[in-house]
Amino acid sequence: LENGLARTPPMGWLSWERFRCNTDCEGDPDNCISENLFRTMADLVVSEGYAALGYEYINVDDCWLEKSRGPRGELVADRKRFPRGMRSLSDYVHSKGLKFGIYEDYGNYTCAGYPGIIGYGRSDAQQFADWNVDYVKLDGCYSLPLDMDHGYPEFGRQLNRTGRQMVYSCSWPVYQIYAGINPNYSSIIEHCNLWRNYDDIQDSWASLETIIDYYGNNQDVIVPNAGPGHWNDPDMVTSHSIVQHFRCLMFFLRQLIIGNFGLSYEQSKTQFALWAIMAAPLLMSVDLRTIRPEFKAILQNQKIIAVDQDPLGIQGRRIYKHKGIEIWSRPITPIYQTYYSYAVAFVNRRTDGTPSDVAVTLRELGLQSPTGYRVEDLYEDVNYGVLSPNTKIKVKVNPSGVVILSAHVQPERITRTTYNPLNY
Ligand code: GLA
Ligand code: GLA
Repeated sequence: LENGLARTPPMGWLSWERFRCNTDCEGDPDNCISENLFRTMADLVVSEGYAALGYEYINVDDCWLEKSRGPRGELVADRKRFPRGMRSLSDYVHSKGLKFGIYEDYGNYTCAGYPGIIGYGRSDAQQFADWNVDYVKLDGCYSLPLDMDHGYPEFGRQLNRTGRQMVYSCSWPVYQIYAGINPNYSSIIEHCNLWRNYDDIQDSWASLETIIDYYGNNQDVIVPNAGPGHWNDPDMVTSHSIVQHFRCLMFFLRQLIIGNFGLSYEQSKTQFALWAIMAAPLLMSVDLRTIRPEFKAILQNQKIIAVDQDPLGIQGRRIYKHKGIEIWSRPITPIYQTYYSYAVAFVNRRTDGTPSDVAVTLRELGLQSPTGYRVEDLYEDVNYGVLSPNTKIKVKVNPSGVVILSAHVQPERITRTTYNPLNY
């Protein structure tokens, strides 16, 4: 959607994967979907340094509404959990220098059973504008997937009519694919800033693997649709194993508890690297109060964020898959003559418990510039220097882990003086 927004994939925080539809503010006040939760996360996005790295949207997902509309058909935020209302929350988020996102559903109900927009598209769009909303995720439960070809563009026009700029996130293709319909991606690109293609992510490696496979197996259809203003959305960056609040006696249980909570460290690194290769939105769904420092470091890896946010906006592809080893690659800036730079991720899907060696020349990866490439590891502090296309690089990839490299094409001007001819 050419509305000037989402020129790079949106970054921020979204409640769903971690906090779901927890409405029990009496029993679980710190974790229920409430204005306090979003205010707290907005505070932490700034104070913990995420905002400075580009995370800017604080997005409310499902379960923020009252079960029915107000007397004039208006949307009403749950009065107990959002006592000050959505405009106040939006103002708070803006006061932190962040942007505010909200969730609704194209159908009769949201997926969790709250009021949907059918019949109210125009007034709901206006309400969002009046609340200074910056981002709308429009889900697709309780509607007819065939109607979406008309309904999603229609609501987009309602948003546009308000005159307020709002990122428009659509779930249009995923519901159509489930219904056996081939999505009309040219229309989706025209009307949406991002869209979900596949299943909801869950807090598990199995779920993450199905998503990785979906995007790899369907890349010929999916990848060409991405670009500045219009992105594929493989869903949230999931809960990176959270530290629980331990009582002293529980200290020794810590390893066990953490092992049972979602992705391992290696798996989390894999998700983040592949999301960057896929030019995916980086919407964290994590408890920022308790995240472990090493997982925070993944989410704050500036080099990988830079890959995700590369201005060319070209989504990467899986270029190799054999016996559990995959290589994914994404063209990035800078460009020299006809040669792109690349980010390259080596993923080990084997379960044999030992790191695998992968050795490949740059040329085999499609990196052919005679001026060479400056190659660097984006997680580890390893600099390979300037390599020629014929250089073989060798990486060790941990089980369910990743090695991600950048290879920046060298301008002739520099390589003439610094290039080591022995590498040729
Ligand atoms: C659907 C969406 C999820 C989330 C839930 C909320 O499952 O795909 O991302 O928004 O609904 O109910
Ligand atoms: C009308 C259309 C629906 C849908 C809604 C959205 O009711 O017939 O398909 O677009 O508007 O508000």
